[in-house]
Amino acid sequence: MPGYSPDVLEDLRQGNDIVDVVSQYVQLRQTGANHVGLCPFHREKSPSFSVSSHKQLFHCFGCGAGGNVFSFITKIENFGFMDAIKFLADRINYVLPQLDGRQSASVAEKNQIYDIYKLAARFYYDALQEPQARHAVDYLNHRQMHHAVRRKFGLGYSAGKSVLRDYLKTQGYDDAVLLKAGLVLESKDGKGFFDRFRGRLMFPIFDVAGKVIGFGGRILGEGQPKYLNSPETPVFDKSSTLYGLNYARLAKTHSIILVEGYMDVIALYQYGFKNAVAALGTAFTASHARILKRYCKEVVILFDSDDAGIRAALRAIPHLYSVGLAVRVAVLPDAKDPDEYLIRYGSENFAAQMAKAMDFVEFQIENARHKYDLGITSQRVAFLKEAAEIIGKLGSAIEQEAYLRDLSTKYQMDQGAVKQEIDKKKNDEPLLISNFTNNPPAAPAKSHPDAIAHILYSMATNQVLYEKILHHLKAEEFGEPLYINIFNIILKNRKAGREIIVADIISELEEKEQQQAAAIFARVTEYEDSQMQYNALGQQITRVKEVHFERSINNAAAAGQFELMDELAKAKNRLNVNKIVL
Ligand code: CTP
Ligand code: MN
Repeated sequence: MPGYSPDVLEDLRQGNDIVDVVSQYVQLRQTGANHVGLCPFHREKSPSFSVSSHKQLFHCFGCGAGGNVFSFITKIENFGFMDAIKFLADRINYVLPQLDGRQSASVAEKNQIYDIYKLAARFYYDALQEPQARHAVDYLNHRQMHHAVRRKFGLGYSAGKSVLRDYLKTQGYDDAVLLKAGLVLESKDGKGFFDRFRGRLMFPIFDVAGKVIGFGGRILGEGQPKYLNSPETPVFDKSSTLYGLNYARLAKTHSIILVEGYMDVIALYQYGFKNAVAALGTAFTASHARILKRYCKEVVILFDSDDAGIRAALRAIPHLYSVGLAVRVAVLPDAKDPDEYLIRYGSENFAAQMAKAMDFVEFQIENARHKYDLGITSQRVAFLKEAAEIIGKLGSAIEQEAYLRDLSTKYQMDQGAVKQEIDKKKNDEPLLISNFTNNPPAAPAKSHPDAIAHILYSMATNQVLYEKILHHLKAEEFGEPLYINIFNIILKNRKAGREIIVADIISELEEKEQQQAAAIFARVTEYEDSQMQYNALGQQITRVKEVHFERSINNAAAAGQFELMDELAKAKNRLNVNKIVL
């Protein structure tokens, strides 16, 4: 086993979403809570390979391969465990601690870049106060940005040529390291170095803790590119950075507003909406969504009102939905972006528009509708199909029902027809997979392995259930060594006060067991409400006890212990009378 602490493994697992990682090798399609595709580990024509974003596990119903993100990388890249760790760390620019406790060279390297950025940010900031920055200041005045806000976001000015490089040289940083930090470029003739940012309005980019990790530079006036951003460096990973999160996090609001640009975040802040963030010139990713999930319950998407903005909103929705965030989409009338809207109409109108933000499903359907002429039957049908597809992607039957009702009222559609369309889609899925993705079971899982799977899963993910289950079941009652192992791992983590998700449990098992464990957890369905889950658990615990009694009775019989047999049989019968209720 590796020498890295569970915390390090946990960081790596969290940073490397299994769906993202697997997607680099396998083309995945979302069906309900899972993603499915063709298994990369055996030949197949129809997809039986399933990846669960919620559980962070993969499992192939065809060949039985399965595990968490570490097992996946180990298997597909043919790595040893340590190589897989390094690979996943590199993938997210994560600096692994030295196993002997010394600071690694790259930690030192990162710290050096942080130091440089701090100096650079200050340098740009000071430059904005100089007479040479006149046109930058004029520009900010023209955009009505308050001085307090300029300061708050550390706006600056890059005067140009090589002033920053010359300054940082006096602070002891040579061109090689400035190149690595992305602040200088080498001239084509190879004779010298000059500043990357020249004559631009500078936006320092902060991490959640408020450390400068990069810069965006806006051109003043016309020209290309409008924004120039720092390249990715050991401290700057665009796919997991959200501009403004350092302030939005402190707002501690129920919702965070997701906007498109630097200027929007700042404008919202100026008008009192301090809970806005923006992805920086890259698509909104699953990893952005997971980060937001830590800080809020709901995300309101507020993108520019052009086609690009709408398309980007449609792409961001599934990421946000799949991490369990509530999602709404706000559309501002008569303005190209939030910044312009606020300046024109002020914060009260803005707040009113935000309150009116649309439910994300409604937004998707509404958007689909615009493509069709509902007066023409064939187009009505096509729209219905598209709407069915949107609704079919929702995780629970209850959600689907609710939207179905709305849809049929709003567009005078026959609810049954849409439902049929959704069901038809489901039937196209491979049977096994659709069984545990789209259809929450009407009756609780009855088979013994299902019961075990649900019990272990509940223990791992829910503290209250964990305690209740512990009250009813002992390790030995789980019967098989693998189940007992998993039970004990959960116990150990819970006792250490650690939150666990099933993918972490798997890290602690031997390779062979990892596959089996992934197969076990792939059986687990989410219940629609906690009452259903409680009822089901009562029956599942009963089932596990029954099987344990049967096993014990057989053992007693084999050993000729007939009195014990009799006692066990009676105990088993009592179980049927006094049902276990949680
Ligand atoms: N962006 C970028 N490179 C570009 C254009 C845009 O990186 N060439 C990124 C920037 O992070 C920018 C965001 O995409 O903030 C949104 O673009 P846009 O709406 O054009 O920028 P705003 O911040 O709204 O700037 P402005 O209002 O000054 O146009
Ligand atoms: Mn804009």
